[in-house]
Amino acid sequence: NFKPRIFSGIQPSGGLTLGNYLGALKRFAQKQDEGIETIYCLVDLHAITVWQEPEALRRNTREAAAAFIASGVDPKRSILFNQSQVSAHAELAWALNCVARLGWMNRMTQFKDKAGKNAEKASLGLYAYPALMAADILLYHATMVPVGEDQKQHVELTRDIAAKFNHDFKTEFFPSPEPLIEGAATRVMSLRDGTKKMSKSDPSDASRINLTDDADTIAKKIRKAVTDPEPLPSELDGLKDRAEARNLVNIYAALADMTPDQVLGEFGGEGFGKFKPALADLAVAKLAPISDEMTRLMNDPAEIDRTLGDGANRADEIAQPILGKTLEIMGM
Ligand code: ADP
Ligand code: NA
Repeated sequence: NFKPRIFSGIQPSGGLTLGNYLGALKRFAQKQDEGIETIYCLVDLHAITVWQEPEALRRNTREAAAAFIASGVDPKRSILFNQSQVSAHAELAWALNCVARLGWMNRMTQFKDKAGKNAEKASLGLYAYPALMAADILLYHATMVPVGEDQKQHVELTRDIAAKFNHDFKTEFFPSPEPLIEGAATRVMSLRDGTKKMSKSDPSDASRINLTDDADTIAKKIRKAVTDPEPLPSELDGLKDRAEARNLVNIYAALADMTPDQVLGEFGGEGFGKFKPALADLAVAKLAPISDEMTRLMNDPAEIDRTLGDGANRADEIAQPILGKTLEIMGM
């Protein structure tokens, strides 16, 4: 009985990668064609859970907005905005901090990864991050959250928080949002090490393709990607123990809107000498226009700011009544 609605976000912490594009941005754009309301957020309040240089954060926020638009998110068909401009996110997050249990937060693997060995030095915000994410989603009564695999645990926590709120206050006010983890590239891996996810925080630039890389750089990184000497099999099953090869096939499939088995139908029996140049051509054909469009959009920051301001007003119209009702249910 909740209207279908999609919410998702990306941190404007700079250096968006092919992983962010295939796991998130490309799918965000596709969702607009499915007749479901789509709300997309640059989650700057999440970004500041680790140190952000203020000028860099301002620039990266505009760059992330440009990446959304260049990837096909239409700010007229979707609501595209900046989290800190809609104060209800922070307010609902506080209320949900008081619903979430410490034991639940202690199980979050992303905190352990990001805090590293010296967790005592991590910010309190980094620890509370998943409760803020729950607020982002529940503030719009979103029912579906397209994310990469790494965010699944946080969407599950959101469901737990919604259920506890509904139970404690004897209400059915919040929906139980579903993570949408779909397609061939739910977890794009490093080009240098098939056991690590592709990430902007990897110290090796060769491990990832950045959305701002030029055509030569993209082609070179794919040519140098770690692989094995075997030819490609004709079915995905044959790639079980070949993480690097599987990753490249998955990337090809996601870029070409094919299934991995279709890709292997085409390239089965071929070696990487044939497959890598084909993948490089495809990646350049798909990514270079995005990078060019980002550059064009970044030339007019005032226009990006107007777009985000308009999105914030539209987001606020949905968020304020839901925040108001939440506080009322709680007795405030
Ligand atoms: P990051 O994980 O790069 O710091 P975010 O946390 O802002 O970026 O994630 C933005 C979105 O991109 C999330 O939906 C996340 O699941 C997705 N994502 C990030 N890295 C990858 C990857 N390597 N493969 C697939 N999806 C990814
Ligand atoms: Na992430």
